[in-house]
Amino acid sequence: MRVHVADHPLIKHKLTYLRDERTDSPTFRRLAEELVTLLAYEATREVRVEPFEINTPVAPTSGIKLANPKPVIVPILRAGLGMLEGMTRLLPSAEVGFLGMVRDEHTLEVSAYANRLPESLHGRQVFVIDPMLATGHTLVMAFEFLRDLGADDITAVCLLGAPEGIEAVRETADSLGIPVTLVLGSIDEKLDENGYIVPGLGDAGDRLYG
Ligand code: PRP
Repeated sequence: MRVHVADHPLIKHKLTYLRDERTDSPTFRRLAEELVTLLAYEATREVRVEPFEINTPVAPTSGIKLANPKPVIVPILRAGLGMLEGMTRLLPSAEVGFLGMVRDEHTLEVSAYANRLPESLHGRQVFVIDPMLATGHTLVMAFEFLRDLGADDITAVCLLGAPEGIEAVRETADSLGIPVTLVLGSIDEKLDENGYIVPGLGDAGDRLYG
């Protein structure tokens, strides 16, 4: 698994305000969208393209366009929804599928409660978006599920990750037999005893949607 941590002052600036407990929901939503657009720039570095011949008003020239089938963006509900607009702004022709997953507050185990994905992801490049990577249970389950549907290239975009979770995801990702990339705004210090990222930003779903 390739892990890329964005190193850009604008990303750090926006993450600082996102983490601040004084930031209200409307501002939090706007910052999450802006951040994902910046991270998506890195996450789409290997997006599949094909040659495309055009004529400018002056001369013919060779360019590129997104290859078919188009990529699929998969926000993990709820909190991943807060990143969807920012991601589709950069990839407007992508298809969008939804996965609903929730983590039990006590056991930290994850269960899936909703699935609205294309029937087959065969040969598709998939971009998973979820603001937080804590224990990694959510992404592990999502990756296995998407690979079983045929995805042959997965990139996850998270605003924050904990080292413990990244290692758990790496273990699964490396056994999937397909390229997996993780793009993060920051790798934080650790997980606390309740499975919260430290220093983190609290509960992203609650801060986005109350
Ligand atoms: C949060 C977050 C991730 C998950 C990360 O979702 O958005 O999906 O926890 O935790 P993990 O890496 O330990 O699995 P949550 O379960 O709080 O649901 P929500 O998005 O509906 O608030």
